[in-house]
Amino acid sequence: MPKQNIYDDPIFFDGYMKIREKEGNANDLFEIPALLSLLPDLSGKSLLDLGCGYGEHCKMFIDMGAKSVVGVDISEKMLEVAHRENSDPKITYLNIPMEDIDKLDGRFDVVVSSLAIHYVESFAEVVKKIYDKMNTNGVFVFSQEHPIGTAYSNGNRWTKDDNGNKLYVNLSNYCVEGERESTWFVEGVKKYHRTFSTIVNTLVDVGFTVERMIEPFADAEMLKKYPEHDNLKHKPDFLLGKAKKM
Ligand SMILES: C[S@@+](CC[C@H](N)C(=O)[O-])C[C@H]1O[C@@H](n2cnc3c(N)ncnc32)[C@H](O)[C@@H]1O
Repeated sequence: MPKQNIYDDPIFFDGYMKIREKEGNANDLFEIPALLSLLPDLSGKSLLDLGCGYGEHCKMFIDMGAKSVVGVDISEKMLEVAHRENSDPKITYLNIPMEDIDKLDGRFDVVVSSLAIHYVESFAEVVKKIYDKMNTNGVFVFSQEHPIGTAYSNGNRWTKDDNGNKLYVNLSNYCVEGERESTWFVEGVKKYHRTFSTIVNTLVDVGFTVERMIEPFADAEMLKKYPEHDNLKHKPDFLLGKAKKM
């Protein structure tokens, strides 16, 4: 079955770019700091970034001391930006799906994947390929849309009060894993829902030691500046994990 490449859709691409450029977006406030908190010391390390997008993280990893970074993405349009804005002699960008990383040469000390793995149908296969591509003592750090979010398809996601305040999430079919189609800038965006336990157990089953999981939310300090993120107390947007190959 052909893999989805929604980031090459021009309407989706423009919509996504606009939310990433917005000050106080959830990625900048919650996902990226949590991801950084899980990374080991990158000095002299070889990295693989799966679903690297604009390549911002690849460039940041080089600035953090990494020896080399391979950034992999299925979208040509995302990689065009990566080449234009985040190129470096130590970074190689490859326009391939992460499902094909078994074809790459060599192994890596650190594999990172930020907000891309929920687009992958064959999670267990990709996790096995990541494990096989890593050196001993290597670390895999990932973020994804939270399983409460991926469980959702279309319909009203929130129950709100008369003033439009979010009261609680309308969660259904959490235990039914598999493909979900929703509308995000365009119709028919496909993501794959897996429960929290499936995600952790898949990592454990291939041989990883799971060292940490994070579900970031806004603390009191953050809420003073960004009160709009208070609803994270009901439903975290992101799930992050750190797993080690012993
Ligand atoms: C939400 S963006 C995140 C980009 C980047 N990691 C970041 O955090 O800024 C998701 C990225 O995953 C890529 N992607 C989706 N499915 C993929 C696949 N099967 N293989 C490789 N990349 C994929 C998309 O093209 C997109 O660039």
